[in-house]
Amino acid sequence: MSVHQSSNIKRITTHILQEMKNRGEKISMLTAYDFSMAGIVDSAGIDIILVGDSASNVMAGHETTLPITLDQMIYHATSVVRAVKRAFVVVDIPFGSYQGNSSEALRSAIRIMKESGAHAIKVEGGSEIKESVVRILSAGVPVMGHLGLTPQSIYKFGTYTVRAKEEAEAQKLIEDAKILEECGCFAIVLEKIPAALAKKVAETVSIPVIGIGAGPDVDGQVLVVHDMLGITQEFKPRFLRQYADLRTTMTQAVENYITDVKARSFPTEGESY
Ligand code: KIV
Repeated sequence: MSVHQSSNIKRITTHILQEMKNRGEKISMLTAYDFSMAGIVDSAGIDIILVGDSASNVMAGHETTLPITLDQMIYHATSVVRAVKRAFVVVDIPFGSYQGNSSEALRSAIRIMKESGAHAIKVEGGSEIKESVVRILSAGVPVMGHLGLTPQSIYKFGTYTVRAKEEAEAQKLIEDAKILEECGCFAIVLEKIPAALAKKVAETVSIPVIGIGAGPDVDGQVLVVHDMLGITQEFKPRFLRQYADLRTTMTQAVENYITDVKARSFPTEGESY
């Protein structure tokens, strides 16, 4: 078999991610939804890029992740994949494209993989979506699980508060993590759960566990890139560390441009033909 790779950059694979967990090296993961941002994040050296259905909030301005469609996710994923040379690209299967129907789940996963060129898909939930997870995995598509706060079920829970604080929910989460591992998932995202519970899950399963609001004792961390760059500013949960204030920087740049246009100081002769 001949394998074609366009550059000699070593791509991140599920195998490499597992090795990172085995040797205790933390995995870095961020979202991206378009070509330009994916290029920045990838060339900075991120391990995993998630084309999250948070695109529904961040890119489209919806209140929840529910409205985004499979076609829209494929559009975002395709743009991201075009920019990425090294990172492992994971795509969320959106709400309504896999729950309760494993044939549809498989169809959705295959469409994402075939049309976008991404490397894996992510699904929210545990035992209740086991059949879909198994079916997708049987087609050779790597699956990342997502437990804890699962935004696609927001109307079932009613709030975005910390999950699995009660013993029964914590036990179910541990069982779900074991089920996802047994099915063959290559990694699990844990969102907004107590740090001690996340630590326990990361110690219980042998696959990488990536946290968002799940404390430090997991195998890696993920954030929404627009949140950590300070582009979105109204969303400030405790777990979010803001690494830049791009909203202010960008607003100032746009204001300066408007001032220059109004004052006729842009363009100059040197900026003209
Ligand atoms: O859609 C998303 O951005 C996510 C992360 C928050 C993990 O699922």
